[in-house]
Amino acid sequence: MISIGLIGCGTWGRNYIRNFEHLNDAQMYACCDFNEENLKHSKRVLSSLKVFKDPDELIADDKIDAVIVATPANTHFDLAKKCLNTGKHVLVEKPLTLTAEESKALIDLSKKQGKVLMVGHIMEYNPAVVKLKEIIDSKELGNIYYLYLNRTNLGRIREDVNVMWDLAPHDISIVNYLVGQEPKRVSAKGESYIVESTEDVVFLLMEFENNILASIHVSWLDPCKLRRTTVIGDKKMAVFDDMENVDKIRIYDRGITYNPKTEREFEDFGSFQLAYKYGDIYIPQLQLSEPLRNQCTHFIECIKSGNGSRTDGENGLRVVEVLAAAQKSLDNDGIFVDIE
Ligand SMILES: NC(=O)c1ccc[n+]([C@@H]2O[C@H](COP(=O)([O-])OP(=O)(O)OC[C@H]3O[C@@H](n4cnc5c(N)ncnc54)[C@H](O)[C@@H]3O)[C@@H](O)[C@H]2O)c1
Repeated sequence: MISIGLIGCGTWGRNYIRNFEHLNDAQMYACCDFNEENLKHSKRVLSSLKVFKDPDELIADDKIDAVIVATPANTHFDLAKKCLNTGKHVLVEKPLTLTAEESKALIDLSKKQGKVLMVGHIMEYNPAVVKLKEIIDSKELGNIYYLYLNRTNLGRIREDVNVMWDLAPHDISIVNYLVGQEPKRVSAKGESYIVESTEDVVFLLMEFENNILASIHVSWLDPCKLRRTTVIGDKKMAVFDDMENVDKIRIYDRGITYNPKTEREFEDFGSFQLAYKYGDIYIPQLQLSEPLRNQCTHFIECIKSGNGSRTDGENGLRVVEVLAAAQKSLDNDGIFVDIE
């Protein structure tokens, strides 16, 4: 039985408490939060929980094998570093850290200590995203032209990071996973309409090999809650809408084919040929399961097997590198920044 400690039992952390109740090989043993009310709430949900107000005390508890860090992003590095230094496996919420250097330091430390370092890129555990990846890899959509992703809602405005660092980790991890590469360069434009110097809307553009483009729109200032990924291929198109309860993916047999005429035909008719295809739309069947449950199960499997995680430190670093380059772009009026 793997014993888990949770640091941060706020809005998101409490979902971990609920999920671990359903896992066989692990138990939520302790939790920690500065906020007394959140500790009381956690104890009401799971009375056996040992509670701490000081994260150092939880980390020092030798009954704990692995720690989940679900605190604000600006605390992730210090807490994860302490966990690894104390010989504990660690699952860190997204984004892994706020700089690439910090992510690299955690990767090195996890290797040195022989402990699992995993990041909560939950979308990679979403059955619909996994299915979409299968569809893309099967070439059913043909070659990918471009993707665009929308993650918008009203709030919640965070104090430690802007909307890009808060929401775009999900979309960057989806894009990196679906495209199977890291972008070559990125550009980002955004504005801070509500709180000074904290962007509440960002438009991020990622450029990949083979002319693949991905555009991500994240906003805390929008009337509509959107969680959508659209993939345009040269054969078919797909839309993944995470706001749908069941029918999350739709495949559109639609596209445009351009048949340039031979020079002679061109002279004859003076035009080129475009064929518009308006084919069927179908909804692939999905075996739905809770992404966070899948993520937690995978974390426990990694600890038990010693195998690397699908969303390991390197995976977290790749997302942080994009965010850091995009932040540089945001700070410099949207200039393109290469991913090093
Ligand atoms: N995967 C997802 O879909 C998803 C969704 C929401 C949030 N998150 C991530 O989860 C993390 C927490 O977000 P949230 O919405 O729950 O925030 P929150 O503010 O609701 O909760 C954070 C909690 O951490 C506590 N805390 C802060 N610093 C601490 C410290 N050093 N030691 C102990 N407790 C500390 C706070 O008191 C608070 O109760 C963030 O990293 C966020 O990006 C992920």
